[in-house]
Amino acid sequence: MPRIFYLPDDKSVEVEEGDFILESSKQAGIPHTHVCGGAARCSTCRILVVEGLENCGDRNAAERAISEKLCFEPCVRLACQTQVLGDVTVRRLAIDSEDIEFIQAQIRGKLSPHSIGQEKKVAILFADLRGFTSLSERLLPYDVIYLLNRYFQHMGEVIDRHGGIINNYMGDGLMALFGLDNPEGAAERSVSAGLEMVAAIDKINPHFETLYRQTLKIGIGIHYGGVVIGEVGAIDNRRLTAIGDAVNFASRIESANKDVGTTLLISEATYTEIRDRVRVNRCVKVKLKGKSGEHPLYEIAAIDPHWEFPQRDRPARSRSPYSQFLKRIRRLFRELWQAFVNLFSG
Ligand code: FES
Repeated sequence: MPRIFYLPDDKSVEVEEGDFILESSKQAGIPHTHVCGGAARCSTCRILVVEGLENCGDRNAAERAISEKLCFEPCVRLACQTQVLGDVTVRRLAIDSEDIEFIQAQIRGKLSPHSIGQEKKVAILFADLRGFTSLSERLLPYDVIYLLNRYFQHMGEVIDRHGGIINNYMGDGLMALFGLDNPEGAAERSVSAGLEMVAAIDKINPHFETLYRQTLKIGIGIHYGGVVIGEVGAIDNRRLTAIGDAVNFASRIESANKDVGTTLLISEATYTEIRDRVRVNRCVKVKLKGKSGEHPLYEIAAIDPHWEFPQRDRPARSRSPYSQFLKRIRRLFRELWQAFVNLFSG
């Protein structure tokens, strides 16, 4: 039977031919970091094969993709994807005392799935104020704080109403996620929120005009895609965030508004989710910074106001006359509430 020799522990484990190295480590109780759970979506289980590379199975497609992206030498392998065919000696590359503590907490079930990361499909909305740097230079710092807080308050209310959460503030910009708790209708809700945010800016602008002779202009970019949701930060001060290409893509879409002269742009993936419910002003093909090729982006003019946005954790909708009646009441209540908010926000 093949053996795996682990460094720096100097432990050896007997395995069946064809066993995967990470699985063998876990079964033998050898601490081995594996943040994505062995799904070939990270590189934390990587090992250096010190001896016996010829006794390792070939890289599969998933491992090949990661190795090429991270420029791994042939002797650096993903333990979760590597099969053992004969004796090998390996050194784990992402392992120190903190990693060991983390893995042991993971084994004891003390870490929430968010501490490790979870893959989700969400709608990511980036919003940014146009020309805010020069605007803030013309104002006093306390006035800038007042203005920003008023702006974020209004944007936060809109985002919350559509079941999203503001995940990050970056100066005068924000990132919001839709679909964390309930994936249903995440793309619709994000676009609806985006449109309402643009309208909310128009409503608070007269107030800023009176106070500062300044008005705000916003740019919004939305993308619907897969991200890894995880907690990041120092151990006592962690916050949930989304990581992945989809996040960068949404940010680039927001920036593209400046070049295209638009206010709200969404990606093709977002548009595909809601194409039957939106009115598009125009579709533009844009080169996005850091991305190859041209990407179609859609400037959204309106979304069907009668489409009911799913609320968090809401059960499947019923079509009974009673539910239709409730739906109408809820809509009426929403409109009254919006009118009330508008009355006091101006
Ligand atoms: S555990 Fe993530 S790639 Fe192996």
